[in-house]
Amino acid sequence: MNTEYLEGLKGWFEDYYNTFDASDDDDRKNYVLKKEHTEEVYKNAVSIAMAEGFSAEETVLAGICGLLHDVGRFAQYSRYKTFKDSISVNHGLLGSEILLKYNTLMGLDKNVQDVVLFTVKYHNVFKVPDGLGKVEERFLRLVRDADKLDIWSVFLKQVEIPQKQRASAALLGLPESSQYNPEIITIIMDKQVVPLNRVITVNDYHLLRLSWIYDLHYKASFQLLFERQLIAHTLSILPQDNRILELRDFLNTYTAVMLK
Ligand SMILES: [Fe+2]
Repeated sequence: MNTEYLEGLKGWFEDYYNTFDASDDDDRKNYVLKKEHTEEVYKNAVSIAMAEGFSAEETVLAGICGLLHDVGRFAQYSRYKTFKDSISVNHGLLGSEILLKYNTLMGLDKNVQDVVLFTVKYHNVFKVPDGLGKVEERFLRLVRDADKLDIWSVFLKQVEIPQKQRASAALLGLPESSQYNPEIITIIMDKQVVPLNRVITVNDYHLLRLSWIYDLHYKASFQLLFERQLIAHTLSILPQDNRILELRDFLNTYTAVMLK
């Protein structure tokens, strides 16, 4: 496995992506959204691996996992016109099935193929399962960090553009409201990741993303989160009431500790 192999996979990804019919403007925006996300997650994965001292070969593997983690998103959208797994299909599982179907990982050692398939299949589980092998856990956590960091940015960008220009599936079909579910603040201050079933509005999803800090694994990921000011930006678009200001202080203290 080397950078040449990685370039070949990028070509495969491009060809696969081009099999989806993007003639409808809204469909195109949704496909582009996930393609751009893929590119950013790839970059995040490589950055985190390098900052964490992964070997050159491990960094290539991290890039491969990032590149392929959401390969199931395109078929998911094509079949169901949504990115909501709960009303369509588990896109991690679907992605791993696609890689097997097309024999995409051909030429890689079997154990390396297994790591990629594993990270693709499980990158979207609510919680990293206990008892994983060391290598599986290392790459799964890396891809989850890389993925979360970009989802953070994607959402912030999408809410800033006029509704008409947005990709329709980007905000998961959630209604926009000036309200939020206060129970979510309690969950975050309890240092728990917010389950998706507590989310009713776009604001709730902004709050949910803040709780992902408890599921970020690598210090390099915290550094990227901090450098990109993702927490401060997310908080700034929520109603500036006392609960949110209290939450801001709480999160500032938490991230300062994590960055030490
Ligand atoms: Fe993703």
